[in-house]
Amino acid sequence: MKIRFADFPALGDDRGHLVAVEGGNHIPFEIKRVYFVYDTKKGVIRGNHAHKKLQQVVFCVTGSCHFLLDDGINKKEVLLDNPNKGLFLDPMIWHEMYDFSESAVLVVFASEHYDEQDYIRNYDDFLKVVNT
Ligand code: TYD
Repeated sequence: MKIRFADFPALGDDRGHLVAVEGGNHIPFEIKRVYFVYDTKKGVIRGNHAHKKLQQVVFCVTGSCHFLLDDGINKKEVLLDNPNKGLFLDPMIWHEMYDFSESAVLVVFASEHYDEQDYIRNYDDFLKVVNT
């Protein structure tokens, strides 16, 4: 499994930093939805699902958060702790987010509107789909 990042130059100046994200350019799809994950309680594991078609790029804009990515064969852990770095969450990758720092805020750019039918929330179902 290849972990893909979208890297951004740190724009800005002596006043501070700025990151600009452009759909169809840095993000290789039309952005149809943006959502934020914040105020995550200690010990919580989010995610625990895969998407059938949805493409996403996730940023940890403040604080840090760990990701487990699993393609059904290999598992990889990724630490996101830099607002310059977008992590691609491709379709059919089981993902879990954990060890959120107290201030962690995730900003996620998604290729589709929310659709519960696009989720696979059961790990055994996920393994069945990737193995066929
Ligand atoms: P979910 O995707 O399960 O969260 P996570 O993977 O981070 O644990 O979403 C949690 C709830 O929020 C669920 O009831 C669906 C709802 N939701 C929306 O209504 N719109 C959205 O864009 C997202 C991401 C979730």
